[in-house]
Amino acid sequence: SDVAARAGAVIDSMKSMEGPLLPILHGIQEEFGYVPQDALPLIAEALNLSRAEVHGVMTFYHDYRDHPTGRHVLKLCRAEACQSMGGDLLADRVKQLLGIDFHQTTLDGSVTLEPVFCLGLCACAPAAMLDGELHGRLSNESISELVAEARR
Ligand code: FES
Repeated sequence: SDVAARAGAVIDSMKSMEGPLLPILHGIQEEFGYVPQDALPLIAEALNLSRAEVHGVMTFYHDYRDHPTGRHVLKLCRAEACQSMGGDLLADRVKQLLGIDFHQTTLDGSVTLEPVFCLGLCACAPAAMLDGELHGRLSNESISELVAEARR
């Protein structure tokens, strides 16, 4: 299949590295935007691990997605500085606006919401990142605009 060929190429290019599992998972996520289920047995076989071991590592690190994301990815900072500046209320508002929780994607496929632990923008808390672009000093209004922009 297409997944097998593309995943296989990533695996082949990295399997002789030292500690190849995490780089391979990263590489596959870069290739597909997530780690397809079908890639797990291929990784397991190449590295001589069980499928359960690969799955265990994948779920231990929260960096890996097992589903495709929406067209946009909105990451809300959940670390301390942002929490102390109203991050919880902001998160509640975003969840309400989108009708989803963290790690979920809106039904229209427009937005995936993810938590992130510090965006390095603590001085401008509370902070978020939309498709790789940082936004700080978020207010109810500016986060609503950001969400509306992402849903368009
Ligand atoms: Fe949110 Fe650092 S704590 S950006």
